[in-house]
Amino acid sequence: MKDLISVNQIGEKEFYRIYEIFKSYKEKYNNGETKLSDLRGYSILLPFFENSTRTRTSFELAGKILGADTINISSSSSSVKKGETLYDTIKTLEAMRSDFIVMRHSMSGAPFIVAKEVKSRVINAGDGANEHPSQALLDAFTILEKKGKIEGLNILIVGDILHSRVSRSDIKLFSKLGAKVSICGPKTMLPRHLEAFDLDFVYTDLNHAIKDKDVVIFLRIQLERQSKPFFSTLNEYSIKYGLNQTRINLLKDDAIIMHPGPVNRGVELQSELVYGNRSVILQQVENGLFTRMAIYKFLLEN
Ligand code: CP
Repeated sequence: MKDLISVNQIGEKEFYRIYEIFKSYKEKYNNGETKLSDLRGYSILLPFFENSTRTRTSFELAGKILGADTINISSSSSSVKKGETLYDTIKTLEAMRSDFIVMRHSMSGAPFIVAKEVKSRVINAGDGANEHPSQALLDAFTILEKKGKIEGLNILIVGDILHSRVSRSDIKLFSKLGAKVSICGPKTMLPRHLEAFDLDFVYTDLNHAIKDKDVVIFLRIQLERQSKPFFSTLNEYSIKYGLNQTRINLLKDDAIIMHPGPVNRGVELQSELVYGNRSVILQQVENGLFTRMAIYKFLLEN
């Protein structure tokens, strides 16, 4: 396993090994060991052809904490703007002896194609609407921390499933780990071939869907991937599929709320609930750092 492109590559054995490394790094960091040398002498290039705050920053910081040299490359300031192809861009980065290429791209499958072409270890930091494996890992680790298990949990993913790479990776990983995963959203935002997903239930009524769930993950409405309208207005979407003070009372007492971010405040979540007592959004962000440290280390072990 040279690269991390998809959660399909992560079986239970790999998952629990990455979790072990994650816990060890988190413990070290919390005990003040904030400068390590596991990646000293390694270089990490981060070509991000789509915007990012959490993923890019945490992959960069994770590399720096582990002692690697990290370099950011954005499409707006690179020769991509001059018309250079993805293939030539990546071959150029490889020629600079990159050990890791952490890439985000709008095209589904782009990191898979790149990984076949280069000797560098390639990490998929999100490809179109396809996959976001490091997000699925950090989500799973956050659930494990809060609930002590994943097997047997009722997990609901709400919103723009159709355009969400997070939902694709989360569904595959959580169901592989024994959770019962359901989705809820407007019919227009549910993928066509639902039989391809390992789902417990598909809901269109959120009030009904959230009642017995242990974990509810709200997804961002991805307006940038919508070439046509999928609902009448954001206000109507929010009324039907957003979390508000009334709806939160329908949740189980110990249910947690997650969101991969960035949040459209007042659409997926009422503003006061974003960092409310049910929300673990900031724990997700914090765990993103240690998850990405663990991914680097895991790929080196391999
Ligand atoms: N969750 C996530 O991928 O966020 P960013 O787009 O900010 O990286």
